[in-house]
Amino acid sequence: MQKSLILVVLVSLLVSCVVADDTLELALVLFRHGDRTPLHYLPDPYNIFSKAPRQTGQLTTIGQKQHFDLGTKLRYKFVDQHSLLSSSFNNSQILVRSTGTDRTIMSAYSNLLGLYPPGTGNPDLPDQIQPVPIRSVSHTPWENLPDRLLRPFDLGTCPRITKLRSEIFASSAVKAYDKSQAGLYNTLKTKLGLGWTPSLEHIDEVYDPLMVMHFHNNPMPAGLTAAEYEAVDAVHQHLTHTQVGEYKSEISKLLGTNIGREWTSEIDAVMAGTPNATVVYYSAHDSTIEFTLRWLGVFPDTRVVPYASLLEVDLWKNDDGDYYLHFAFNNDTLSIPGCTGDKCTVAEWKALMDQITVKDWDSACGLVPAPTPAPVVKTVHSGIPPLVFVVVVVVMLVGMGVMCVAAFSAGVGMRVWKMKHDSDKKGVEEPLLADVVENDTLV
Ligand SMILES: *[C@@H]1O[C@H](CO)[C@@H](O)[C@H](O)[C@H]1NC(C)=O
Ligand SMILES: *[C@@H]1O[C@H](CO)[C@@H](O)[C@H](O)[C@H]1NC(C)=O
Ligand SMILES: *[C@@H]1O[C@H](CO)[C@@H](O)[C@H](O)[C@H]1NC(C)=O
Repeated sequence: MQKSLILVVLVSLLVSCVVADDTLELALVLFRHGDRTPLHYLPDPYNIFSKAPRQTGQLTTIGQKQHFDLGTKLRYKFVDQHSLLSSSFNNSQILVRSTGTDRTIMSAYSNLLGLYPPGTGNPDLPDQIQPVPIRSVSHTPWENLPDRLLRPFDLGTCPRITKLRSEIFASSAVKAYDKSQAGLYNTLKTKLGLGWTPSLEHIDEVYDPLMVMHFHNNPMPAGLTAAEYEAVDAVHQHLTHTQVGEYKSEISKLLGTNIGREWTSEIDAVMAGTPNATVVYYSAHDSTIEFTLRWLGVFPDTRVVPYASLLEVDLWKNDDGDYYLHFAFNNDTLSIPGCTGDKCTVAEWKALMDQITVKDWDSACGLVPAPTPAPVVKTVHSGIPPLVFVVVVVVMLVGMGVMCVAAFSAGVGMRVWKMKHDSDKKGVEEPLLADVVENDTLV
C-alpha cells in the first residue's frame, strides 16, 4: 500500500520534471468569434433581431463575455504558467490578426481585455486599460477585400475554390442527399412561409436564424417542432463537412495552404530566434476552423465549432533543444495524421506540409495565368512595333478581301452573262444561279 503510494508519487514527480523541462516557445491561437446576431432572416413575423444592415452578424454582450473569459484563461496559460508573455502588453510578443468583420474584431478586443486586463495597461487611461493593435482586412457592406489567409472560401478570393465548391454542390452525392431531405425542406418551406425551397447548399439561410433563436432560448416559430429543428441542425452539420471537401483533396489543400505557410513561417522565425511574436492570435469564423481541421485530417464527424472555439498550435522545446508541435482543439489534444502520437516534430510537420499544400497558390487558384509560350507575334516580327504590325496585317487582309470579292464578282458576272447568253439562246430560266448571285451580294 505504502510502496505503491511512494511509486505513484515518484512517477508523478518524474512526469512533472519531464514536463517542466519542456518550454513553450510559440502559441498560434485560432479562434471563432463569440455569440452573434443572425446573418440571415426568416420571413416576418418570426424575426426577433433588428434587420438594420450593420446589426447583422454582430457580437452580442454574451459573445463579448465568452471571449473575455477565454482571454482570461489564455492569460493564465501564457503569462502565469509559461511566461510566454509579460504580464503587461509588449508589442514584440503578440501579433493579433482578425478577419475584417465587426464580430471577429470585437471578439479579439474582448479576448485581449482578458489577456491584458484593466490595471495592467497605461496608468494615464481610466482603469489603466491597455489598447492593443489588431490587424485585419476590410470586410464591410461597402468594402470587401480578399482575405486569403482566413477567408479563402469567399466568392472569387480563390476562383478555383469557388469552382470546386460549385462542383461539390452539383455532385450526385449532394443531389441524393437533398432528395433524402425533400420532406424536411418542404415542411420548412410551408411552416416558415419561405418563398423558396431549402437545399443543402442554402440551409444556412434557415438554420442560422433558427440556431440564434434556439441559442437565445426563444421559442421556435409556431408549428416548428424540436425534432424538426434537430433535423435542420443535422443538415447544417452535413453542410459543414461537405463544403470543406475530402482530406487531401484539391479544395482542402487550397483552403489550408496559406494558413499552413503562415504557421510554418512563424515557427521558423521562433527557431531562428527572430520571431514577429511568440503569441499569434487569429480571430476568425467557424468556417475557418472547419477547413483547417479537415485540412489537418482531424475534423470529427460531429458538430464541433461552438462560439469562441479555440484551435491551438503550440511550439515546444525539450531539454535536448529539440522543437515539437502540439495541437489542441477546445483543450482536447489532436493527433495529426503524419505526426508521431500527440507530438509533431518540426521535420514531420514540414513533410506533412509538402503533402497538404499547393506550391503556387496564386496560379493554382487561377489568380495569375499559367505560364504560356512566348507570343508568336513578337518573336517572328521582332523589330516591328506590335501596333504597326497589327495595322499592316489588317490593311493586307482587307485588301485581299476586296480583291477576292472583286475577282469573285467578276467571275460570277461572267457566268451570269454566259448563262443569260445561253438561256437567251435556249429560252430557259436558270433559277439556281440567281440564288447564288443573291447570296453572294448578301455576304
Ligand atoms: C518586449 O519583449 C521583447 C521580446 O520578448 C524583449 O526583448 C523586450 O525586452 C521586451 N520589452 C520590454 C519593455 O519589456
Ligand atoms: C512577420 O510579419 C510580416 C508582416 O505581416 C510578414 O510579412 C512576415 O512573414 C512575418 N514573419 C513571420 C516569420 O511570420
Ligand atoms: C484547458 O484545461 C485546463 C486544465 O483543465 C484549464 O485550466 C484551462 O482553463 C482550459 N482552457 C480552456 C481554454 O478551456
